[in-house]
Amino acid sequence: MTADSRPRLVVLTGAGISAESGLKTFRDGDGLWENHAIEDVATPEGWQRDPELVLRFYNERRTQVRRARPNPAHRALAELEQAGFDVCIVTQNIDDLHERAGSREVVHLHGEILKARSSIDPRLIYPLPRGGIRLGDLCDKGGQLRPHVVWFGEAVPAYGHACDIVTEADLLLVVGTSLAVMPAAMLLHEAPTECPCILVDPNASALSPDWVRAIDAPASQGVPKLVDHWRRRQRLEVPEIF
Ligand code: APR
Repeated sequence: MTADSRPRLVVLTGAGISAESGLKTFRDGDGLWENHAIEDVATPEGWQRDPELVLRFYNERRTQVRRARPNPAHRALAELEQAGFDVCIVTQNIDDLHERAGSREVVHLHGEILKARSSIDPRLIYPLPRGGIRLGDLCDKGGQLRPHVVWFGEAVPAYGHACDIVTEADLLLVVGTSLAVMPAAMLLHEAPTECPCILVDPNASALSPDWVRAIDAPASQGVPKLVDHWRRRQRLEVPEIF
């Protein structure tokens, strides 16, 4: 419970919540990591070897993100917050669909694709309202710009803040993640022992530890149904409706 005494819903989201907005997940069939080598496009070594390839990969993804629209799952979470619930989203996603749906408290664990960052000073971050990053685009200190995303092998600067948020959760809702990537998957274990946890994912039963309530459903169905339940009851609880 936070200082304002409303029960707090913490939502941990992954690529699956944006799948129905047309953005590919990473590890499903035909996912991004099936068609691109992680070590080429999502590691510091890949960036050193071939920055142009890395920039092209993220420029394409940025174009797709700009075209995508929030789906009923993003919108339901924003509506829950607007209805007066205390909702904080911790997302592994680099898209901005939670913000565009209207959610105000969103922590991006793995960065934001609509921002560029200096490759020599990580404090220099620039919005990218249009276009992409090209080789030769420089920060104010003269260093090449790179995508503002966390690559494999890099630190996750927002992790400590995300832990603080999860330790205050009264209910933890996890949506659309394979829980395959550390340290994000560890966040489940940061929740207080009495905090119930629900996972919404078409593959939830297979992914969930036994203390997690698995809801085998796509995000656009499972999340609005849960939100509707909480709004009608005016409280957060693990429902028996599925
Ligand atoms: N609704 C909900 N979940 C879905 C849907 C859907 N419509 N479609 C697929 N999923 C689920 C899959 O069942 C899977 O469990 O989304 C999950 C996607 O898993 P991953 O592709 O592994 O994505 P994610 O867990 O977000 O990956 C974590 O890995 O490489 C990275 O940095 C990248 O942030 C990403 C991290």
